[in-house]
Amino acid sequence: PIGLRAIAASRGLAYGAALGLRSVDEDQALADAYTRECAVLVPEGDAKWAGLRPAAGVFRFDGLDRLLGIADRHGQSVRGHTLLWHEALPAWVPEALRAGQGYDILSDHIFTVVGRYRGRIPVWDVVNEAVAPDEGREDGLRPTPWLRALGPRCLDLAFKAARAADPGAVLMLNDHDLEYASPLQDRRRRAVLRLLETLLARGVPVDGLGLQSHLRIGRPFDPRILHRFIGEVGGLGLMVMITELDVGDAAVTGDIPTRDQAVADHASAFLDTVLDHACVKAVTCWGLSDRQSWLHHHPAGWRPDGQPMRPLPLDVELRPKPLWQALGDAF
Ligand code: XIL
Repeated sequence: PIGLRAIAASRGLAYGAALGLRSVDEDQALADAYTRECAVLVPEGDAKWAGLRPAAGVFRFDGLDRLLGIADRHGQSVRGHTLLWHEALPAWVPEALRAGQGYDILSDHIFTVVGRYRGRIPVWDVVNEAVAPDEGREDGLRPTPWLRALGPRCLDLAFKAARAADPGAVLMLNDHDLEYASPLQDRRRRAVLRLLETLLARGVPVDGLGLQSHLRIGRPFDPRILHRFIGEVGGLGLMVMITELDVGDAAVTGDIPTRDQAVADHASAFLDTVLDHACVKAVTCWGLSDRQSWLHHHPAGWRPDGQPMRPLPLDVELRPKPLWQALGDAF
């Protein structure tokens, strides 16, 4: 049967999904579904600091190496995720930051990791979740341990180190809650645009914006606002990717066909709006099958009726859902 990767490729788009190695290790059917559906694999945790750097002097590359091996065997590419984030930090990092070693550990980490996979990981989510205009800083940046230690130049450093380590890689800023029409998300969009503009003005090598797109039915969606925002990002000469798509349906009551159709309809409106722009190059979901969504272990994944979320394109039996169809139709 045809997979989303082929449908997307025929429209010049790359489709893929995040992958936790543990979820496929003992699940050959799920592994086969990734092969059929995905041209891009994103390590769900293996390229985060907590996965790669258990201790200051220790890099643990076995997970990422294994993922690259899987991708090579199946003609897939890997998007690296992620190099500068305030979460998934091993305990030694905040200590090192307090000891004034931030510049050294960040540049060393990025040189080592991006350099090891030079020419083999074509896209990196270099910076993840950099803006939080509700957290009090005038520039709208998130006051992370990195930012407190190094100031906004931690962002410059991350992108510059990544560029130096692999001049051919596409370098992304990846951020969340940019999709809806709420006043907070409006501030978030403005903060992202301002950040991208200032980075570019300073000569920082950023190539694109990732919209995480953890969608939730019931939030206020206004296609004109989102369409204009993507146009503004594209107008800066940047590319855009949908990076972590999934759809929460806590607000939908009813049987499973009703819920699955609501999820697909919500995603369709979003995808049609974003994919209308030629600067949009790729779509990846945060998981492929409802077997393995991170939402099953997250408060945002809770439904009032206690039923599990159905946020991804394949159901727990790995059958295509209406969301799968919506993706194929949108490409
Ligand atoms: C999540 C993973 O899916 C979980 O398994 C992990 O426990 C926490 O991180 N935004 C991101 C991703 O950029 O890295 C997050 O991934 C989900 C939200």
